[in-house]
Order: sequence, then C-alpha cells, then structure tokens
Amino acid sequence: MSDIFAGTRDIVDAEEFRRVAGCFATGVTIVTTTGSDGEPIGLTANSFSSVSLDPPLILFSIARKLNSQPAFQKAEHFSINVLHEGQLSLAKQFAVALGEKWKNVHFEDGSFGCRLISEAAASLECEKYASYDGGDHVIYVGRVLKIKADWQRTPLIFWQGKFGKVALENA
Ligand SMILES: Cc1cc2nc3c(=O)[nH]c(=O)nc-3n(C[C@H](O)[C@H](O)[C@H](O)COP(=O)(O)O)c2cc1C
Repeated sequence: MSDIFAGTRDIVDAEEFRRVAGCFATGVTIVTTTGSDGEPIGLTANSFSSVSLDPPLILFSIARKLNSQPAFQKAEHFSINVLHEGQLSLAKQFAVALGEKWKNVHFEDGSFGCRLISEAAASLECEKYASYDGGDHVIYVGRVLKIKADWQRTPLIFWQGKFGKVALENA
C-alpha cells in the first residue's frame, strides 16, 4: 500500500480528518433558498468555493442529514451571502438546526426568489447548474446570475473550529 493513496478502506481517522481539514481557513457564508411551500431556508456554510469564470460557477456542499437539504435538492435557485466580521451572531444563528434562523434578521428579497442577507460583504444569486454525490454531503454547483459586493467590508473567518478576523499584511 502506497503512503499517499488511501485506497478504498477508511484508514483515515474521521475526527483527525475533520481537524486537519479545519487547518484550511475559510470565509463564512449563509446559503439561502426557498422551500416548495415558500418557507425561507438558510444555513451557515463554509464549503463555498468559486469554480469557473466562464461560465461563472460556484459550489458548496450540504450534509445529507440536514433539515435544509431536501429544500436545496428541489430548489432551482439559491443565494450565497458572504459574511463580514461584524456578522458573527448571524453565522451562529444560522448554524442551529431547526433554530429560529430568520428571527430579527435584516434581509432583502433577491431577484430569483431567495432572500439576501442585508449588509453582507457580498451576495451571489445563482441558478442550480449541477449536483453531485459528495459522500455524506451533496455538492451543489450554481451558475451565478447576479452579484453585489461591499468592498469596504472585511470578512468573517473560520479556522480550526473558531471564528476570527483577517490580519492584513501592511494594513
Ligand atoms: C462555520 C460553519 C460552517 C458550516 N459549514 C457547513 C457546510 O458547508 N455544509 C453543511 O452541511 N453544514 C455546515 N455547517 C453546519 C450547519 O450550518 C448546521 O448544521 C445547521 O444547523 C444546519 O441547519 P439545518 O439542520 O436546519 O439545515 C457549518 C457550521 C458552521 C458553524
């Protein structure tokens, strides 16, 4: 057995893998969509990544077990809202399963039926382009239809299970 190819057996310890993956610092987003009954859906997600410039594609992944997952499976559109460092409480609020996620949240109605978090560092409105098996997650790829950003905002960061702020070089 090669040192670098894990093969088909789960020889990587799940908890250690989670901790190692957490060494990669990310931004924090709230991904929103609308359920078939019109219910607003949202969850905190740091699995967001840009994929392609032409066409403009992004991705994120959602755990299959989440309450929000069926709504994303059916949805044709969703929005990604990149949080700024002052939106930590929102990141926590949208990470509580079945919580009162939208309580006291300022939002705007997007052009494609999904709520946009007000004052986010950036919002990307997307149509679903593809979805893929991602093990215990589903990977969603979205084609970006509309974008806006507030360039003055500095992002909220997630690293090793903790929230933080950016320390810019030469800032
Ligand atoms: C910083 C952070 C990032 C997260 N990123 C993801 C993610 O990318 N995908 C995911 O499925 N869950 C992610 N979660 C967990 C969900 O936000 C959490 O399970 C939420 O309660 C789901 O709500 P629901 O069960 O009502 O759908 C993240 C949580 C935190 C705190």
